[in-house]
Amino acid sequence: EQIKKGSYDHFMQKEIHEQPHSLTTTMRGRVKDSGVLLGGLKEKEYLKTIRRSRRLVFIGCGTSYNAALAARPFVEELTGIPVTMEVASDLLDRQGPIYREDTAFFVSQSGETADTLLALDYALENGALCVGITNTVGSTLSRRTHCGVHINAGCEIGVASTKAYTSQIVVMVMVALAVGSDQISTQVRRQAIISGLSNLPSNVSEVLKLDTEMKELASSLIDSESLLVFGRGYNYATALEGALKVKEVALMHSEGMLAGEMKHGPLALVDENLPIIVIATRDACFSKQQSVIQQLLSRKGRLIVMCSKGDASAVCPSGSCRVIEVPEVADCLQPVINIIPLQLLAYHLTVLRGFDVDQPRNLAKSVTTQ
Ligand code: AGP
Repeated sequence: EQIKKGSYDHFMQKEIHEQPHSLTTTMRGRVKDSGVLLGGLKEKEYLKTIRRSRRLVFIGCGTSYNAALAARPFVEELTGIPVTMEVASDLLDRQGPIYREDTAFFVSQSGETADTLLALDYALENGALCVGITNTVGSTLSRRTHCGVHINAGCEIGVASTKAYTSQIVVMVMVALAVGSDQISTQVRRQAIISGLSNLPSNVSEVLKLDTEMKELASSLIDSESLLVFGRGYNYATALEGALKVKEVALMHSEGMLAGEMKHGPLALVDENLPIIVIATRDACFSKQQSVIQQLLSRKGRLIVMCSKGDASAVCPSGSCRVIEVPEVADCLQPVINIIPLQLLAYHLTVLRGFDVDQPRNLAKSVTTQ
């Protein structure tokens, strides 16, 4: 086992640091200057069927659900097709409507999650086109779906999913580029994202240099009982996923919250003790996040702000927040960058608090029972 971990102490740590490589393999042979080529969707004209769908339904659990949520705004923008999000167990509990005119995307690292597979059976019975996005070639998900895309992130061993998350987002972005490739009005936007994808592994290498800074931040949070993470737009999913990582491995209560909902309840929690991470990197929501920060500061909130490089004084003019500066990339790819400091934070918090990083209490890597 130690040989497989190489120079790392834990699989989670190794998998976090592997992301420049795993993202490269996810994109290998698929991202060209002229566009995106996804062999698994070309066959039998699946792309055309997806384009004609009345609705896209993204289905998954845990981190895989969060990855689909991160991709949703961009998929809607590039395809013009509405996307409905479904947690697999909730879709089953509600027996929610799925139609023949829908395309259902099933996102699962393992391809063996029971709830996701039962939701797949349900969508197949209801006549939807079913597309699998998985890391596991030959898994039940990849065998039972009509078509799909493997994320090719390499084997993920740590129970906390890290490199699969970033590869799932990139695959969903590639799917959006492929489905939207017939639209002339978005050609310039698509081209910008394609060049952003090519540079992504080097941007990820850069953000990984925050490792020591995240360890220091973790040591300042070691005794906290709770941690909130506020995000919106592309980075609402980052808030959910960052909080999920902290709670599942560091065993610290943590909640990801939609910043737009802050005034509708969460604001009551704010005081000088509760640490709050606010994600405020550059995108269309930036000025709204600046105003959220001001409102939290006026309630004496203990803020840690994630912003684009060079934006420290723009997000926190008073200098009273702790700031994490990350490289700025295309808005729809920013969630891939922004989750990495939070993965590092969760990892270091876990080690410092003395918990088992790769095998968190009560959890299994793949939840194969309902
Ligand atoms: C991720 O850190 C979790 N361990 C968990 O939420 C996981 O993502 C979920 O169980 C879904 O697994 P899957 O991607 O293999 O379907």
